[in-house]
Amino acid sequence: MPVHGRSSFENLYAGQPRWEIGRPQRAFMDVADQITGSILDSGCGTGENAFFFASLGHKVTGIDFLAEPISLAKQKAADRGLTATFLVMDALTLKDWTERFDSVIDSGLFHVFSDEDRRRYVDGVASVLKPNGRFFFLCFSDEEPGTQGPRRVSRKEIEEVFAVGWAVESIEPSRYEVRPDPNDISFSDGGPKAWFVVLRRLGR
Ligand SMILES: C[S@@+](CC[C@H](N)C(=O)[O-])C[C@H]1O[C@@H](n2cnc3c(N)ncnc32)[C@H](O)[C@@H]1O
Repeated sequence: MPVHGRSSFENLYAGQPRWEIGRPQRAFMDVADQITGSILDSGCGTGENAFFFASLGHKVTGIDFLAEPISLAKQKAADRGLTATFLVMDALTLKDWTERFDSVIDSGLFHVFSDEDRRRYVDGVASVLKPNGRFFFLCFSDEEPGTQGPRRVSRKEIEEVFAVGWAVESIEPSRYEVRPDPNDISFSDGGPKAWFVVLRRLGR
């Protein structure tokens, strides 16, 4: 089962990562009206999804464990005259953080983690969300053929990891949009098959 650590992401950023499409993911744009209040973009990369929500007037914080994409995100924010906060932070340490958000978004991070780290990540997301706050994420689905690229995630796995302390509002088939690259892994036409997941953290 492929699990991507820091060095894999450093290598990917040394080239042109497939997820760097230069605009927000369609799946998040489609539900923009449901994503409310202050937003944490977890695993924000160079910030395109964060910028989209900042441009709609949300207070947005993006975190990524690599300094390079965060520095690029800060530069892009300055170039575009957008206000958003970008921090170098490991999403597996969210539980130690005192910030709280109305919404957390995650485009392409959830599917990176091993089973053990996934549990830790979900607990961290729960701890940074205000009671009844919502978590929206887009991850590779087990409907995507092959094994190259990120780990595939099944609907059952999602239901299991969010079984306690969360209401699963929806798990819908979606696509993770990627840059075309004939020399790289070939994914399904229209982008790798994905799940778009909406959860509500139940109040404490
Ligand atoms: C597939 S990319 C998606 C980037 C961005 N969300 C997007 O859709 O364009 C996953 C991102 O998560 C970051 N990442 C991976 N593991 C992380 C961790 N433990 N904590 C924070 N960021 C992480 C990577 O550096 C990378 O920028």
